[in-house]
Amino acid sequence: MKLWEKGINPEPAIIEFTAGKDRETDLNLTRWDIVGSMAHVIMLQEAGIIDVSERNEMLKALHSLFQLAEDGKLIIEKDIEDIHSQIEKEMSSILGTTGKKIHTGRSRNDQVLVDIRLFTREEIDKLALMIRKLFIKIQSLSEQYKEVLIPGYTHMQPAMVSSFGLWFGSFAECLADDLLILCSARELNNRNPLGTAAGYGTTLPINRRRTTQLLEFDDLLYNSAYASLNRGKAELAAASALASVAQTLSRFSMDICIYMTSEFRFIDFPDEYVTGSSIMPQKKNPDVFELIRGRTNIIQTLPNQVAMLTSNLQTGYNRDLQLLKQLVFNAFDDAKECIEIMVLMLNNIRIRKNITDNPLYNNIFSAEEVNRLVRQGVPFRDAYKAVSEMVRNSPFSRTTLSDYVHEGSIGNLCNSEIAAIFNKRMECFKNRPAAEIEAKLMKFAS
Ligand code: ARG
Repeated sequence: MKLWEKGINPEPAIIEFTAGKDRETDLNLTRWDIVGSMAHVIMLQEAGIIDVSERNEMLKALHSLFQLAEDGKLIIEKDIEDIHSQIEKEMSSILGTTGKKIHTGRSRNDQVLVDIRLFTREEIDKLALMIRKLFIKIQSLSEQYKEVLIPGYTHMQPAMVSSFGLWFGSFAECLADDLLILCSARELNNRNPLGTAAGYGTTLPINRRRTTQLLEFDDLLYNSAYASLNRGKAELAAASALASVAQTLSRFSMDICIYMTSEFRFIDFPDEYVTGSSIMPQKKNPDVFELIRGRTNIIQTLPNQVAMLTSNLQTGYNRDLQLLKQLVFNAFDDAKECIEIMVLMLNNIRIRKNITDNPLYNNIFSAEEVNRLVRQGVPFRDAYKAVSEMVRNSPFSRTTLSDYVHEGSIGNLCNSEIAAIFNKRMECFKNRPAAEIEAKLMKFAS
């Protein structure tokens, strides 16, 4: 059954191709499609378009469908195009004529828009919570190993004294900035398109502010044509936020892969957490971090894919937009899975001490030697020249953490300041699952 069937039998191959992966992808939207429909029905009654008993019947039917969805039992049938059509079909078979009123004053286009926004809002909030877990882990490692020195690199050459405290802490601060971008994606995403119908509104006296309030959006997407243009823009914002998180994870993973090599051996993991080789008995491979690196590098292509997909579309709905769902939904799953496994790995990381005792790293103390002379009154350039002469052979006196006092240095990591920024930014995210909003809306039927 196609909602738009008008007596002509559609060619099955065309239906198959145009439905594409929607029967699977749309299952992510089921609960939100139902919640959006509940808000719509409540509004229709208040606007005098349907009566109270119709509203109550529809809410009850939607509630039963919501439970089916929660139990994973609501599926999209073979001959049904998408979740919106499936739910309308279910409504008609439960309620007959009343069920057919569910689509009053709306289009599948604004339905898919509202579903995606509600789903993305939830995904962003879930992702933020996972980032928080990772942030806490990384900051605690930074504190735990703040005394353990490592060489810091520039141009992949040993450069200056660093520490595990500084290294871990840098990724924690990175995540704090990722949250800011994620928060702005959430804001951009949290406006209500419902009621804009096919992008040109409706002559029925609907109340868009009411559904905005019921679905807990910050505001409306006002201009109906913009609401459909916004499909792609909200995704681009989410994609950029995902790409930013992915960048952090990818660079962190790359460092870990390097630090695990037998040349560096800065860190290590228990045998159960690394993988072997089928031919080389000695191998302890960082497959987990290679796969995080690979998957997050793919996520970093997402903003480009979204931009390309939407770059030549005329204002108004175009079917190309359907393809956005899979791209963005998959990226949320990838990002969450990568963070989850990263936390597991970090719970088991082993840190090697005394790394900088290796004479190989003597020269990383040379800049500190220059500073020692500067403190004695030697002009910087003269001190630099004097130390340059010494560099080739002499070992340098070791820097201590008490030499580093300024903010953000190895002796003064400012982890609590970074945590304060992180926690402030976390306030942007609210944990408001579909079931809670559904329960709230269901009360209208009692
Ligand atoms: N599956 C469609 C999508 O994701 C839903 C909207 C269909 N609307 C239409 N006019 N074909 O875009």
